Formats: sequence, structure tokens, C-alpha cells
Amino acid sequence: MRTLTILGLESSCDDTAAAILRQTGDDAPEILSSVVMGQNDLHADFGGVVPEIAARAHAERLDICVRRALDRAGLSLDGIDAVAVTAGPGLIGGVISGVMCAKGIAAGAGLPLIGVNHLAGHALTPRLTDCAAFPYLMLLVSGGHCQFLIVHGVEEFTRLGGTIDDAPGEAFDKTARLLGLPQPGGPSVEAEAKSGDPARFAFPRPMLDRPGCDMSYSGLKTALLRARDAVVAEKGGLTRADRADLCAGFQAAVVDVLAEKSRRALAAYMAENPTQPLLAVAGGVAANQAIRAGLETACAETGVQFTAPPLWLCTDNAAMIANAGLALFRKGRKDDMTLAARPRWPL
Ligand code: KG4
Ligand code: ZN
Repeated sequence: MRTLTILGLESSCDDTAAAILRQTGDDAPEILSSVVMGQNDLHADFGGVVPEIAARAHAERLDICVRRALDRAGLSLDGIDAVAVTAGPGLIGGVISGVMCAKGIAAGAGLPLIGVNHLAGHALTPRLTDCAAFPYLMLLVSGGHCQFLIVHGVEEFTRLGGTIDDAPGEAFDKTARLLGLPQPGGPSVEAEAKSGDPARFAFPRPMLDRPGCDMSYSGLKTALLRARDAVVAEKGGLTRADRADLCAGFQAAVVDVLAEKSRRALAAYMAENPTQPLLAVAGGVAANQAIRAGLETACAETGVQFTAPPLWLCTDNAAMIANAGLALFRKGRKDDMTLAARPRWPL
């Protein structure tokens, strides 16, 4: 196989990113550069991502990210063989910004263009970090998504189940907002939970009484709101210790649900694929150490290998988009200037 160098772009939520990967022969692709410009500061006053602000920032920053990615890789566009871009799902303004930027580069430099599904980018990350062989079981858990997928191939996914309402990342973000902690909520709730008592407040474990791999996280947000209001009504406010206990209780419930549902997904997966015992996790919430530990334990009990990407490849990045784009390109996929931004695009 010929050596390929690919530029990837990502702008579907609140991270503007560009990365360059090179694959020589059958080897795992090498990340030559990966640039991520976050937007936490731009959205901090609003308690969540404001789509219009995000889209404008992406439009302003994509060029800067591409320039930095090229500089860090020591390349010009002459050294690039193809351009991959997130074409959905995500916030429409951001996705359009990325797709337009990629089309401009592809047209200007005469390069092939490949539209990538953001979820496929996350789901194929273990191929980049661990050279994982197909098939494997993937728990994709982020701010907008939560699902178990059997990854059979670059474009072949079977969904075993997932959330019926909110994603866990959304619940972490809401928890942080309700407790006056900074966004994104995942890292701040995780930090507070470290010193908290997970048993002080009784949080439910939604849908564990139901068979299958489906989950629900909206009830946990309500439970947190009620517990918080009860403390405020009793004492007139929250202490640091109250906050830590609320975070610890909430996080322990998420860990228990994800671990138990993973056991069930693993049972279903292993029945069909006994010779490929691997659970991989991806998405921003996979950065959480307590969740990683819970999943690791569930895997150890069932004799299944567990793998999680390094933290910077869990949250949104363009290396995963370049990686998926490279695999698609190798299979002969190529888009043209009609490539559309798809705000909804299930796997
Ligand atoms: O994959 P990602 O960067 O963007 C989406 O595609 O959604 O995930 C972002 C989500 C946010 O909700 C953020 O709060 C959550 O991942 N997150 C975490 C942690 N780090 C990021 N959740 C729990 N614990 C963390 N350490
Ligand atoms: Zn993501």
C-alpha cells in the first residue's frame, strides 16, 4: 500500500481542530500533528455551548488550526494526499464551517475530499491507538451520545443499545451548572467527587431493572436537583463538602449504570464474537477515571480486554477524523463538492 498523508478537520461542537496523519503500508497511522482550539472561555458566561458563537469561532479559527497543523508537521499542502472533514452529526453552523473549509482546500490544492461521520471517528479511535482488530465492542460515551456498538469494519456498526434520553456528558454538564461549577462539567464534577462521600445521597440506578443495554440519564439530573434543593432548604446554602458529596453520589450512579450495562453488552457481543474479547471506550466522558475503573473491573470479571484512548484522544479532536478518513479513502471512498453538512447522521 502506498504511503498516504491526510489532513483532518473537526468543528462539530465547541472544539476547532486540525490534524495530519501519515500511514506507511499496513502500519498504524502516525499522528504528525494535532491542533485543538477549545472554546470554553467563549461559552463560559452562558452555561453551555451557544451554537451561533461556536460557528463564528470555527469560521475564524479553522484556517489557523490548519496552518499550525501543517507547520508542526513540517509540511505544506503539497505534502498532503487527501482532506477529511467531519460532515456530521453536530451543530449545523460548525459542521458547515468545517465542510466549507475542507472544500476550499480540496478545490484549491486539487485534493480528494472525504466526509467523515464524527461518531465513526470516535468509534475507530482504538484502531489508531491500539491497532485494534475488527470486530470489537465500543462504548461511545460523550456530551451528545451514549451507545454500545459492535464495530465490524470501517463502515459497519451494529448498535446494541444506548441512552433513551440524555447522554452522560450532558448530565455531567447539567450537574456542574446546578452546583455552580465551571463548564465543561465532566472534569469539574470528577474533581469535586474525589473528596466526596458517594453514599450520603441516594441516587437511583435508572433502567438496571430492565433487560438489555438501553440507558437513561435524565432521572439522575432530577435526583441531583432534588438533593441539592433539600440541602439548600435545610441549611440555606451548599458547603464545599455538600457539593463534593453530591458530585460523588451522581458520579457513582453513572459508573454503576455504565459498568452493569457494559456487562450485558459484553455478554451479547461475546456470544457472537468469542475470539475477539475487547471492549473499547471513546468520547469525552471516557476521560473520567472512575468510569474507566468501573469498566475495567467489568471487563476483568468477564476475561475481556479493556482499552481506552489517552485523554486527549477521548475528547473531540481531528486526529480521529483523519484516521477514519484515511481508512475510508483506502476503501475507495471519495466525496465531491456536493458533500453536505448533516446535523443528524446516525451510524
Ligand atoms: O466527545 P466530546 O469532546 O464531545 C462530544 O462529541 O460530545 O465530549 C464532551 C463531553 C462533555 O459533556 C464533557 O463534560 C464530558 O465529555 N467530559 C467528561 C470528562 N471530560 C469531558 N465527563 C466526565 N468526566 C470527565 N473527566
Ligand atoms: Zn465527540
